Amino acid sequence: MTDWDMELVHVESAALDALGAANSLETIDAAAAESVGKRSVLAAMQRSLRDVDPDERRRRGALLQASRTRIAQAVATRRGELLAAHRRDQLASDALDLGDVITSARPWALTAGHGGLIPAVQAELEDVFVAMGFTVAEGPEVETDWYNFEALNIPPAHPARGLWDTFYVELGDPETIVLRTHTSPTQVHLMEQAVATGTLPIHSVMPGRCYRRDTPDARHLAVFHQVEGLVVDQNITFADLAGVIETFTRAFFGPDIRSRLRPGYFPFTEPSAEFEITCTICRGAGCRTCSQTGWIELGGCGMMDPAVFDAVGIDPERWSGFAFGFGIDRCAQMRAGIADLRALTENDVRFLEQF
Ligand code: PHE
Repeated sequence: MTDWDMELVHVESAALDALGAANSLETIDAAAAESVGKRSVLAAMQRSLRDVDPDERRRRGALLQASRTRIAQAVATRRGELLAAHRRDQLASDALDLGDVITSARPWALTAGHGGLIPAVQAELEDVFVAMGFTVAEGPEVETDWYNFEALNIPPAHPARGLWDTFYVELGDPETIVLRTHTSPTQVHLMEQAVATGTLPIHSVMPGRCYRRDTPDARHLAVFHQVEGLVVDQNITFADLAGVIETFTRAFFGPDIRSRLRPGYFPFTEPSAEFEITCTICRGAGCRTCSQTGWIELGGCGMMDPAVFDAVGIDPERWSGFAFGFGIDRCAQMRAGIADLRALTENDVRFLEQF
């Protein structure tokens, strides 16, 4: 290889490098002019052929021509790539950006809504009791004094009325129509119906909204939900009641959560009990939520008081039964670990989205 051949190799590879590095239509055109244009090294080498003898001139001419062809091909290829990119950019910048138009009209993502926590927990509670053989019934939220109190063995002016801070509705005589303070009046409706239609026994649960004139706090709302349970049958004992409560507790909260009954007082049951479950926050170890006791009160229960059977016309000699009632909101709170129940009424989607 002569010095001239070596130079041609270097000139060609420098030209190909420059073309490869060109990143716009302007720079590729400049690089092409520089490598093969009139003022290029290649053109100078071409001109120098005049001074060499014919055989060598032909040999160098062929080498030069081959080199020019390869460079021209590289120019064409790189130019094509850059032109395509340039067109793509232009199309993109000219396009009407529908994405922008649409997103500015709808700056938040559309998400499907879903039911609330309380209805979901209520449905689950119903499922548990239906699986145990109970039917589901409902009653009115606006009640007469008779259903909410009197038929439940709470006569007018009886001190036990103080157990329920009552909202009265301005209808009829003063303090005769109430927003029900518990779901127990639905028991009375069911028993009256069963007597009228001759359809005893009863094994029912009755979920629904209740109202109390309470100041809301972390564990109480003025509008809340209870589920009532009622069994009226023959030879029903306190053991049946305790068994139902324990079975429900484990089915709903899990096998490591237990129930216990403590003496209590309700005018419509005798004996009465309050029922508690293992604190689901600390699993019984003791924490702030359960005031270090390891137990959380869920509701009340007891054997049907004969005075209630009398009020609805059921023979207490033939029939016996039990009732229970507890807070659905409290169940939801214990299951979902909600520190403050008031969050349920504040409509903050960041909270609601979690359920
Ligand atoms: N109704 C009672 C309450 O709301 C609970 C209860 C229901 C107690 C049934 C005994 C039997 O406090």
